[in-house]
Amino acid sequence: MLMPKQKKVLIVGSGGREHALGWKLGKSGRLYFAPGNAGTAEIGENIPIPAEDIAGLSELADKLRLDLTVVGPEAPLAMGIVDEFQARGLPIFGPTAAAAKLESSKAWAAGFMARHGIAHPRSWVFLDEQEAIRFVRRFPWGKMVVKADGLAAGKGVILPDGLEEAEAAVREMLSGRSFGGAGRTIVIQERLTGPELSVLAFCDGKSAVPLLPARDYKRIGDGDRGPNTGGMGAYAPVADIDIREIHRTILQPTVEGMRKEGYPYKGVLYAGLMLTAQGPKVLEYNARFGDPETQPLMLLLKSDLAPILLACMNGTLEPEMVRFRPGASVCVVLACAGYPGPCAKGVLIEGLDTVRDPNIRMFHAGTLLNDRGVVTSAGRVLGVTAYGETIEAAIRRAYGVIGSGGVRFEGMQYRRDIGGQAYGT
Ligand code: AMP
Ligand code: GLY
Repeated sequence: MLMPKQKKVLIVGSGGREHALGWKLGKSGRLYFAPGNAGTAEIGENIPIPAEDIAGLSELADKLRLDLTVVGPEAPLAMGIVDEFQARGLPIFGPTAAAAKLESSKAWAAGFMARHGIAHPRSWVFLDEQEAIRFVRRFPWGKMVVKADGLAAGKGVILPDGLEEAEAAVREMLSGRSFGGAGRTIVIQERLTGPELSVLAFCDGKSAVPLLPARDYKRIGDGDRGPNTGGMGAYAPVADIDIREIHRTILQPTVEGMRKEGYPYKGVLYAGLMLTAQGPKVLEYNARFGDPETQPLMLLLKSDLAPILLACMNGTLEPEMVRFRPGASVCVVLACAGYPGPCAKGVLIEGLDTVRDPNIRMFHAGTLLNDRGVVTSAGRVLGVTAYGETIEAAIRRAYGVIGSGGVRFEGMQYRRDIGGQAYGT
């Protein structure tokens, strides 16, 4: 499959990840976003079709004769967007619904890792409440984790403090009260400790080529305090990581295992790892690019993205195709007041035009353009993403444009410790 010169690319989704993918892909083509945000409207055309409207999106791809569709979020992948496009002969990057089961069923993923000797926490699957409660009461491996099997918008993992909370989590999930169908099956895991790492890899069904190791910040507050969020920031590369070892023991065995089981994995594979005293173990797989990890990774990727994605789809991926610049990148997420709870929408964002440094990209997430200008439209609003020769330089650049004199909006909140060091006040 060769790309025509002025290729037409559709990016499905509306977050900072999709804006970053578009920014990288736009260098070689004409962009469409469905549904997109105020930032994507500046680099392409937003089309008001929701990411889960698979019929609508495939009709669009057909009508516009798109050369490539790239899927951001997990929901359309799990619903089979790739299967539908493929059935209609439309080129699309991402795993089929069967391959996306690595993310859409944590029970299935745990079984898969056990079958292929991929290191992960000890895991047990339950459908029956009484059985699960009995198990929890005599759980001999210390603290545990209770996970809804299915997709739960990043909220389906409970780290209970004590037996009472564990039993409550089991009951809430298995009754269908907390996550509906996604919690009708649960996975109970031993709780591991260690730093976490996000490793994303391009996969062509046969082999995996890793991107730089990245780290995201899930909690709302500095020092990892407070409730979980969709992600308050990220940086790459993480120092002192033996990526070849992770490739050999986790990424490549995953792709080989999927091929052997009849679900060749083509797309981006995201392994959420914990670096334990016994080595890296997989806490979860995602079948897509991470958000916000993708933002710094796209700033660091030197190679063109489109040829890599096409090589994944064609089964012709080579490690030399994926080249990175030296240096580091940091993404600081600006969220609205109240996040991760409900947020005020329609708050005017000021100072976007003050950022002129080519080493800084303002990737939009929850933004919307109306007659007053660019306003907030969801919890995570912007991802200030900076490149630096060193991580310290990237941190300084990113934080240097936030707040007074730079980008700001009423109630704006962000973490001060993205990249590892506390910076600013
Ligand atoms: P997941 O969505 O499975 O990555 O879980 C979300 C977060 O919960 C992870 O980033 C970890 O911080 C934590 N977590 C999940 N599973 C475990 C585990 N088995 N041990 C310790 N922490 C976990
Ligand atoms: N950064 C976490 C995720 O994309 O799931």
